Amino acid sequence: MKPTLFLAAALLLLPLNTEARKAKKFTHETVAIPAVERQVIAVETDHTVLVLLVQENGLVKTLHYGAPVGDPAQYLGMRFSEEDYNSCEGMAYPATGGRFIGEPALQVKYADGTHNTELYFTGVTVERREGCVSTAIDLKDYVTAMQVKLVYDAYPKEDVITMHTEILNSGAKPVELLNYASSALYLDAKDYLLSHTWGSWAQEMQLERELLGHDLKVIESRRGVQATQSNNPSFLLSLNTRDYSETSGEVIAGALAWSGNFRISFDRDAGGRLTILSGISPYASAWPLAAGECFTTPEMIYTWSSEGAGGASRNLHRWARKYSVYGGGEVNPTLLNSWEGAYFTFTTETLLRMIDDAAGMGLEMFVLDDGWFGNNFPRNSDNAGLGDWEVNVKKLPEGIDYVASYAHSKGLKFGIWIEPEMVNPDSDLAHAHPEWVVQSPGREIYQGRNQWVLDLANPAVEDFVYGIFDRTMQLAPNIDYIKWDCNRVIQSFGSPYLGAAQDKFYISYVQGLYNVMRRIREKYPHVLVQCCSSGGGRVDYGSLRYCNEVWTSDDTDALQRAFIQYSQSLTYPACIMASHVSTVPNHQTSNVTPLKFRFDMACSGRLGMELQPRNLSGEERALAERCIGSYKQYRDLVFRGDLYRFASPYDSNYYGVMYVSEDKSRAVVFTYCVAFEPRTVGGKVFRLQGLDPARKYKVVEQNVDASCWWGNGQSFTGSFLMGGAFNPRLPQLYSSAVFVLEAE
Ligand code: DGJ
Repeated sequence: MKPTLFLAAALLLLPLNTEARKAKKFTHETVAIPAVERQVIAVETDHTVLVLLVQENGLVKTLHYGAPVGDPAQYLGMRFSEEDYNSCEGMAYPATGGRFIGEPALQVKYADGTHNTELYFTGVTVERREGCVSTAIDLKDYVTAMQVKLVYDAYPKEDVITMHTEILNSGAKPVELLNYASSALYLDAKDYLLSHTWGSWAQEMQLERELLGHDLKVIESRRGVQATQSNNPSFLLSLNTRDYSETSGEVIAGALAWSGNFRISFDRDAGGRLTILSGISPYASAWPLAAGECFTTPEMIYTWSSEGAGGASRNLHRWARKYSVYGGGEVNPTLLNSWEGAYFTFTTETLLRMIDDAAGMGLEMFVLDDGWFGNNFPRNSDNAGLGDWEVNVKKLPEGIDYVASYAHSKGLKFGIWIEPEMVNPDSDLAHAHPEWVVQSPGREIYQGRNQWVLDLANPAVEDFVYGIFDRTMQLAPNIDYIKWDCNRVIQSFGSPYLGAAQDKFYISYVQGLYNVMRRIREKYPHVLVQCCSSGGGRVDYGSLRYCNEVWTSDDTDALQRAFIQYSQSLTYPACIMASHVSTVPNHQTSNVTPLKFRFDMACSGRLGMELQPRNLSGEERALAERCIGSYKQYRDLVFRGDLYRFASPYDSNYYGVMYVSEDKSRAVVFTYCVAFEPRTVGGKVFRLQGLDPARKYKVVEQNVDASCWWGNGQSFTGSFLMGGAFNPRLPQLYSSAVFVLEAE
């Protein structure tokens, strides 16, 4: 057709088409959202409040987290500009969909391929339990019938609020959860100073502080197991300041109770407000939720304090000792661990002599570490034996019972090491059950420390792992302590058991681990369990529900420990922190530090020794006995006292930490020089903290004949000691001192 003719034809048709369009009105059916009554929901503790607002349109928003505001109902009348009202800013649990296009707490992929979820308020319930008030807010998507319950558990006395979410597919078809955060916390402050830790093997918990900008900041682990050996799922956030303070200002502490992949994101909007999403990392883990199924996220733990980082840490510590750490607040025994003193090379005789020495020095437990098992594939190095948990008859022909009984006869408790989640390719287990190994079809099963990971997503493996613990407990009557190790990350993941449901692997693994731990605790409520993962690879509040302590780091160099232990104290209590005196040169760093410095460092946690005592000189042994003896006098303060950090090794040449009894009648003070500081006339002056200003305290230095402080043995008021008059002489790198303070 010629162009002119075509144009004419089109013009003729035009009126007709316009008419047709007018008649055919665009229709799109939408589901009506019922209006609800506007209301304020306040989750309160003694000194904090989290305020949420239910708008008439059903959206639930977070308005405030921090200091009490008087009657929270005052927020009821609070109005926003129209734009704010309709927008999704500050949503209590933002979901992909509706007007929300930011980082989602929840993202669901529905059977029809859509991703939109809009959560509206349907109700709230409050339940009181011992020491805790639980508030549950119910939300619903009216199109898909997806339901979400936001649970806020408030612990009034400790000023802690934990948050988790229950996601229920009440629709008729299966869905996939692409994001499923434990919590979303919305804050409005001028500045946000984040303190968090990074690390690696033998260098865990390295502190990093940064002011949050407008780009998304993410702390994550994709290591599967050994998840905390890089970042830790915990942080401090100083608000409205660019400077870190231990003693003043608003600080929020957060920690996720999960022992696998995690993700905590900090998203600052154009208006400067911050949303913190925290939970399991969705990395390779789209979670399938069949009709009627519910997914419960792990707990995110929050506290707020106006007393700086120290205040936030102490809140968390108090809560953890009471509600979260297994056996928290109990005093655990000092010990000698065989690892750095004997490694894989020992006989019964070696162990008995170590037990003699431990008892002689006043230690209270002997722990037999790696190397005691495997016969066809003996565990003489880390090449073989993992998986074959029977006693090696060559090294220990009399059995474990013999060694344990000997320890008991000397008045010591007895502990033993296992690594039940792992298998060496050179083991009977790997040959008997290749299908139990984490692997992906057709791909190499990569080794780490010569070992593979067992597939805890498989219930049969769960049983096997539980059985290892159970059988180890039967090796001798009264095994008092198990060190549970886990020495590699998961790579090239895959579960033969899960078939096509590989997305479930990372989460199912941790669920399997917790199932095992739960069974263990049902049968063995009193055994002490140390959670170790090549050192601090599993330092999290998920494992601490079942474990009494953690092996803080394989780095036993007391100088490095100052940095590791300081940072661990930001979000974890000292009662979990195992700290051992080892030999010099240090086996990890080659550093040579004085024995006193090593003891003083280890005594600020759960004291242990990890060396061959036979190699100590008479003088060293005498010092060891003295330090262990004095530690037993004040250690209840380390395990149960309030922790105050008065000098940071990251910000100064000194590390100073002290523990004060709840009634402020006693304290123990630890001071260390971690880098040479050119001398000044008066020496370094510290301001102690947490004492009663009006009471007088007698100050006595421990473990020395000549004190490094002029005021030793005298009494001073708390205000004097906290006012900048405490200046022990710590003239050189590795100078250190421990003081016990008793109120008169
Ligand atoms: C790693 C742990 O962190 C060490 O303490 C020790 O138990 C070794 N494993 C044993 O193989």
